Amino acid sequence: MSTLTIESDIAAVVQSAIEKHGKKHDAFIPILSEINHVFGYVPGEAFREVRKQLIDPTERIFVAESQLFGLASFYDMLSTKPRGRHVIKFCENAPCHVVGGKAVWDTLRESLNLKNGETTPDSKWTLLTTSCLGLCSVGPVVLIDDDVYGNVTPDQLPAILERYE
Ligand code: FES
Repeated sequence: MSTLTIESDIAAVVQSAIEKHGKKHDAFIPILSEINHVFGYVPGEAFREVRKQLIDPTERIFVAESQLFGLASFYDMLSTKPRGRHVIKFCENAPCHVVGGKAVWDTLRESLNLKNGETTPDSKWTLLTTSCLGLCSVGPVVLIDDDVYGNVTPDQLPAILERYE
């Protein structure tokens, strides 16, 4: 795909997201989510394009690229970097930690040879920590894509990871 095509795709996706969610301040996150859904992340060029298409002095809509980038960096469901085909989110909060979370986390990092936020060279896995998923009673908790695994132990991890192509 040429750069020109990527840029025209981004412009079209941004336009469609803005048409769907409207030119208003509380639409920033839904617009970024839509872009994230299409590309798997929010490409750098998209921040410039969203700003360009959103700004509307008559409606008093002003937004800086840095503000949009800040939102995309802050929210777990958005990414500013391409992610793998499968995203592993590991709950790093204390209730999961005290029931064996550290051993699960260490095993995940070692078996995938990844640090937090990294993606494997074959683009299969992205490893992320997350805050409490609201499932503390079954900690340690690992989320892979939309699948939740509770009471995870290090020795269960190979079989769990094998389920994913
Ligand atoms: S602390 Fe891990 S799910 Fe709540």
